[in-house]
Amino acid sequence: MFNIGGVFVNHYSGWSEFYQQPLEQKLPLFLLEERLFDILYAQQFSRQFLEQLFVLADRIRAIAKTKEGSDYLQTCLSDKRALLVFVQPSTRTFLSFENACHLLGMRTSEIRDMSTSSEVKGESPEDSIRTFSSYVDVIITRHLDEGFAEMAAWVLNTMTQRQVPVINGGSGKDQHPTQALLDMYTLQRGFRRRCKSGIDGKKIMMVGDLKRGRTVRSLCRLLALYDDVEIVFSSPKAFAMREDILEFLSQKQVKFSITEEFESMLGNVDAMYSTRIQDEHDTDHESSSVDAKAFYLKESHLEKLQPHTVILHPFPRRQEIDVAVDSDSRALYWKQARNGMWIRAGLLLYLFRRETLVHDYPLAKL
Ligand code: NCD
Repeated sequence: MFNIGGVFVNHYSGWSEFYQQPLEQKLPLFLLEERLFDILYAQQFSRQFLEQLFVLADRIRAIAKTKEGSDYLQTCLSDKRALLVFVQPSTRTFLSFENACHLLGMRTSEIRDMSTSSEVKGESPEDSIRTFSSYVDVIITRHLDEGFAEMAAWVLNTMTQRQVPVINGGSGKDQHPTQALLDMYTLQRGFRRRCKSGIDGKKIMMVGDLKRGRTVRSLCRLLALYDDVEIVFSSPKAFAMREDILEFLSQKQVKFSITEEFESMLGNVDAMYSTRIQDEHDTDHESSSVDAKAFYLKESHLEKLQPHTVILHPFPRRQEIDVAVDSDSRALYWKQARNGMWIRAGLLLYLFRRETLVHDYPLAKL
C-alpha cells in the first residue's frame, strides 16, 4: 500500500482490517495509561488538553528568553532522540519540529526521501518503521498516504517490543493535527491580546481549498471543542468543505455556513484563515479550471475587517494574501509559523511526561 518502488513487499497482516475500523474503536490503541501516546488525529484532543498545552507553550517561550532559561530547556529532553520522516514537501512543519527538538536538547535525524531508504530494495514500510524505532525515541512523519502515520503507530504498538510514539506531521489530504494545535494557540493568543477574550463565541472564516486542505479539516475538529463558535466556509464550489466535516459539525451543533462570497463576509468575522489551492492532489488538472482570485485578500480589503479580526494562513502562500497585508497588526501568520515551534516543544514534553520540568522552573528568575 505504501511501497513507492513498486517492488513486491511482504506486508504485515491485520493492518487493513484495523485501518477500516471506526476511529472511536481504534483510538484506545494510541493511548498509554490514559495519556495520548501517538498523535495521529485531531479527534484525540480535548479542550482541557489544548488549554494545558497552551500554558506549557507559553512557559517554554518565556523560559527561552534568557540564556539561562534556554540552557535549562536543553537539559529537559537531552536523553531523547527524534527521527523526522518527511517524504512529502515541508518547510515549516519540518523546521519547527526539528527546532522544537533542539530547543529541548534532543538530537534529530531525518529521512526526506524514501528512495534513499531500503524500501527501494523491497523492504516493506512496516519493516522500515520497525527499523526506525530501533534508533530513536519518537518518530515524526509526513506522508502523502493518509494512513501512513497510523500504520507506523499500529506496527509499533502491536508488533514490537520497542514502542515509540508516532506524531502525524500531515497525512495526505486528511489531517494535520499539530498544525491545528498551533492554529488554535495563535487564535487564542490573538484574541486574548486584541479583544481580551478567548475562542468561545468567535466567528471563524475559512477560505480557499477547503476540500483538500488538511489544515482546515483538523482545525474544524478543534474549534468544535469550544462554545458557540461559528464557521464560515468561503470557497469556489469545486473546493467546498467535504461532507464528513460538515456532518461532524452538525452533530456537535457547531453553526456553519457555506458561501462563494468572500469580500462581503470580511466585515463580519473575528478570524479569517486563508489556504492555498492544493493542486498536488489534482487528478485531472481540476485546479487550473477554477479561478480563485476572488478569494485573495488584498490591502484594499483591510478597511473592511474589524479592528480585532485576526488573519491566519498555514503557509506556504501564493497569492491568497498580498504581501502588503503583512505589516498590518492583524496579520498573525508569521507569528503563527513561529508558534509552531513552541506548541510542538510543549507536545514533545507532554509525550515524554516531562511537563513538570517546565512548570517547576522559577519564571520569576527571568
Ligand atoms: C500546510 C500543509 O502542509 O498541509 N502547510 C503546513 O504544514 N504549514 C498547508 C499547505 O501545504 O497548503
